[in-house]
Amino acid sequence: MTELTDFISLMNEHSRLRRTSINLIASENHTSPLVRAALSSDLGHRYSADFYGGTKFIQQVIQKAETYLRELFNVDYSIVTSLSGHLCDIAVILGFTKPNDKVMSVAPGNAGGYPFDFTFFNRKQIPFSFSMEKMNILVEESIKKIKKQNPKLVLFGSSFFPFAHPVKELIDSLDQQKKIEFAYDGSHVLGLIAGKQFQDPLKEGADILLGSTHKSFPGPQGGILLTNNFEKYELLSSILELDLEKGIRLIDNPHPNRIAALALATLELIEFGEEYAKQIVRNSKALAKTLDKWGVPVCFKEHGFTESHQVIIETENYEEGAVFKEKAEKHGLIIDSGGRIGTSEITRMGMKELEIKEIGEMLAGIYRNEDTSDYPRRIKDLITLFNRPAYCFERIEEINW
Ligand SMILES: Cc1ncc(COP(=O)(O)O)c(C=O)c1O
Repeated sequence: MTELTDFISLMNEHSRLRRTSINLIASENHTSPLVRAALSSDLGHRYSADFYGGTKFIQQVIQKAETYLRELFNVDYSIVTSLSGHLCDIAVILGFTKPNDKVMSVAPGNAGGYPFDFTFFNRKQIPFSFSMEKMNILVEESIKKIKKQNPKLVLFGSSFFPFAHPVKELIDSLDQQKKIEFAYDGSHVLGLIAGKQFQDPLKEGADILLGSTHKSFPGPQGGILLTNNFEKYELLSSILELDLEKGIRLIDNPHPNRIAALALATLELIEFGEEYAKQIVRNSKALAKTLDKWGVPVCFKEHGFTESHQVIIETENYEEGAVFKEKAEKHGLIIDSGGRIGTSEITRMGMKELEIKEIGEMLAGIYRNEDTSDYPRRIKDLITLFNRPAYCFERIEEINW
């Protein structure tokens, strides 16, 4: 079975790479031992619908996950069936628009919006008017555009997301005679919203908050939708939940092990989320200041660099970003090709400003092609000290799954 041996080696190689590197990908995080145990529990072999026998406890797992999320985000309704943040976007787009309708959202490319293929779904994307200097939506210009273009859905949120979007300002200044749905894709900042360190889009007037549960939210890969409106909840549930009478739409099997893991990650955030999110923002600011001090061109200095888990550095183009990514990875620092550096995972592993400054100095040294000969030792020391997630429960011995 050389193929099996090779495949096991491949998996081991991946784990070794990640165990010996520091992860600064803004879209990723590290789950706790409890969350990992839930992912590999018996639930990972099962369906959840009532139609199947043996599901009575699974129904409770799902209900509890929904309840914990309602408590964490202080909302009336939550949906946990989506397998990803992307499917949440699709559900909102299918639920609130029809073919040929317009959706306003942040443009991809330089503005850093999520590159959703609206044309594939027969919808037209209208970009927000956007300031690259402020990395944010321009309210008055966008309102003019909304009045002219009549989008059915306005989707806040972004993939490059250092600053809160002007949700309240924009919604309050729109005369809402023509009914528009306002959704907020908080995939990147969901953990910060949960920890009350970023805007609360539902309080600011958005109808729906959706997002990935594995970026700044340190849970299993997946997505959630939250709302205070019962009709909108019912509509989205009908798209994302199994209905044997109407027929299956986006989800048949919601992966109950993922939902159990999400419930546990949510309990962790109820307990530790505020402290965790505060430290993320402190770490991002410390990282940005260090990079700036050592000559890396960090964006938005005049706006305090960042208010989220992301620090964005100027790159001429994708190729330049990819070269920096390759160089950093060779040294054991993992980043993406977009010049976007994330602090969620290093914070989750317990690092604070002191360690962040050291990482910043090393990133700057790599960026400037300086002598990096002592970096392997410094990185190894950091990984040895911070080798288990913080902000989580330590009750793994109770597990008999
Ligand atoms: C703004 C935004 N929305 C949605 C997604 C999709 O995330 P997921 O991996 O949960 O499908 C991403 C992915 O990076 C994103 O940046």
